[in-house]
Amino acid sequence: MLVTQQKTLRRFWYALMPMSMLDDGPRPFTLLGENIVVWKGADGRPAALRDRCCHRTAKLSKGFVENGNIVCGYHGWTYDCSGACVRIPQHPDNRIPAGAKVQSFHCQEKYGYVWVALDDPLQPIPDFPEDGDPAYRRILQFYEKWHTSPLRMMENSFDNSHFSFVHKSNFGMIDRPEPSKYEFRPHEWGFEAETHVPIRNPEASHRVTGTTEPVTERHLVNRWFLPFSRRFGCMYPASGRHHIIYNCATPIDDKSMMLVQWLYRNDSEESCSTQELIDWDRPITDEDRDILEATDYDACIDTRRRVEYHMESDKPGLLMRRMLLELFERHGETEAFLPARETL
Ligand code: FES
Ligand SMILES: [Fe+2]
Repeated sequence: MLVTQQKTLRRFWYALMPMSMLDDGPRPFTLLGENIVVWKGADGRPAALRDRCCHRTAKLSKGFVENGNIVCGYHGWTYDCSGACVRIPQHPDNRIPAGAKVQSFHCQEKYGYVWVALDDPLQPIPDFPEDGDPAYRRILQFYEKWHTSPLRMMENSFDNSHFSFVHKSNFGMIDRPEPSKYEFRPHEWGFEAETHVPIRNPEASHRVTGTTEPVTERHLVNRWFLPFSRRFGCMYPASGRHHIIYNCATPIDDKSMMLVQWLYRNDSEESCSTQELIDWDRPITDEDRDILEATDYDACIDTRRRVEYHMESDKPGLLMRRMLLELFERHGETEAFLPARETL
């Protein structure tokens, strides 16, 4: 999927990075092909500007933060959180030219992360009800660049039929390849998909699942939030443990995305430590990344490029494509895609 071609995607919030990454100064990020800089303002809130000084185009992310403003590392022109130039050190007595300004973007903190929308957002940042609920602890799991499309990542995370193969040395059951059926509930923000999946439960996963039975069940209440966020709502009925993952597949450019992943657990550090939970999901996440980076990044929606063959178990991914196409069409984007409706 060529994300930079779809202007409507600029009208959503994306999780860019943990807030803690701003503790040491400004950071660059490429979002939908747009180079931006983020930093922490004087009030502790994050701000985002185009990463390009309006003096001689140096990247502002090479600069530093002073009194909540960002200072260009080349000649020290200084910008506030709205992008207005507030200081030209070489000429303190001259009036600052009216056009001395850098484009700013919508930026806020939520769930411990910096979120940015490039254009006016169509909807608020998705609601993740576990956050702030005293029954849950929040664990930052992974933050890494993947060379694949965010839509590939989203469809994979709802694809029950890959467990038996991609995760066969883990929880997947290679001798039970038939995927369990989903029940779908559409929402204006995407859909909810519920299912029950049997998994292998080797000894190494007993503290994660909270049960010692060799085969146990995952009750999944997953959610997809347009365009590239999802909830993996995993509950283990045998133990009552919840393992709720939120993933944002933040689009960097047409060929890559940032995996931003955090976890909520309703148990204690003693029953399963933060490190154990990171170590448990590490190889599973690597397996997904490895197979996704071995697919064509652009084949998801633009059916002029490729033909893909779909089975019943690909339904969640097909629903995503249909909802994205409808969204783009609603916002006047009919040029980029020639959807083969008969395949949807
Ligand atoms: S390029 Fe930024 S101050 Fe000169
Ligand atoms: Fe997977």
